[in-house]
Amino acid sequence: MSAEATQDIEAYATRALAELEAVLDQKALEAWYRAHLSPSGTVTALRKQIGSLPPEQRKPFGARVNTAANGLKEAFERQKGVVEKLELERAIRREAVDVTLPSRPLPVGGLHPITTAIREIERVFNGMGFETFESPHAELDELNFELLNMPPAHPARDMQDTFYISECAVLRTHTSPGQIRAMRKYAPGPLRVILPGRCYRHEQVTPRSEMQFHQVEGLMVGPRVRLSDLKGVLLACARQVFGKDQQIRLRGSYFPFTEPSVEADIRCTLCGGEGCRVCKHTGWLEIAGAGLVHPTVLRNGGYDPSVVRGIAFGMGVERSFMLLHGITDIRHFFQNDLRFLRQFR
Ligand code: DAH
Repeated sequence: MSAEATQDIEAYATRALAELEAVLDQKALEAWYRAHLSPSGTVTALRKQIGSLPPEQRKPFGARVNTAANGLKEAFERQKGVVEKLELERAIRREAVDVTLPSRPLPVGGLHPITTAIREIERVFNGMGFETFESPHAELDELNFELLNMPPAHPARDMQDTFYISECAVLRTHTSPGQIRAMRKYAPGPLRVILPGRCYRHEQVTPRSEMQFHQVEGLMVGPRVRLSDLKGVLLACARQVFGKDQQIRLRGSYFPFTEPSVEADIRCTLCGGEGCRVCKHTGWLEIAGAGLVHPTVLRNGGYDPSVVRGIAFGMGVERSFMLLHGITDIRHFFQNDLRFLRQFR
């Protein structure tokens, strides 16, 4: 404690008050309190002195100390309020968000080109009354092969090796098993469905083959369905997707689940039919396998082949997309490289 405090309590108090006025933050306020009003502060020290004074001086000295102490306490409480307000204002300023700043750019995603292509084909067929029919990716061997006329030893299975989930279940190698599921839902009534989706094959992954890819299957069954209906719906699809001058060519082929079987071609979209490298100078691009549904398959679906007939087709989405856009590596579709995907936004 300073000598000044003992001799002139009032002068000490005045100086302490002046000091307090300059206190504008919490830390300085605490330091001031420690120096003056705390148990180790000057005021306490002054009080302790009272007892050591000659008895007649104790009362007046004590009174002066009390007056000074009361003044300081009051002033402290007042300044505490001032400091609290200042600290609050500072905190508000420090934590303020400038809502006028421009926001960070929000990346906008896009649909995968295969999704867009499938939706486009779906839109066209939905418009012709074909319902989109979902069918599972994990499929029974029975539906994927047997009921489509491919018994266990059938050579057509060689082209569709797949991933076996169990002895009787596989990852579907094509969307055709969905035909059986759709027929079993609608038989004996007429049906018109489109079955888009992912398929799997145990293939070596190369620029020309992936172990996963997409197909869009179509199926129409009814009493008056004919091969010309197949040509008609494929032509309508080709004209809506590729242009109103498109043409369809059907070539004889073989699939176990159709009889007769055909391959459907469209005019080469790159050369317009003149002949180029992409269409191998034929002027045509193959877009689908198709045919009249085999009587056995109709029967397996729950229909009487003497009463109804069916047309069916299956398009490979990636393959057609590659031909149309001059893409030479099928692996691009599954690598999620934005440089590739952005080109088809
Ligand atoms: N499922 C056949 C495949 O993956 C494609 C196909 C051909 C589907 C003829 C059909 C069809 O519906 O009639 O190679």
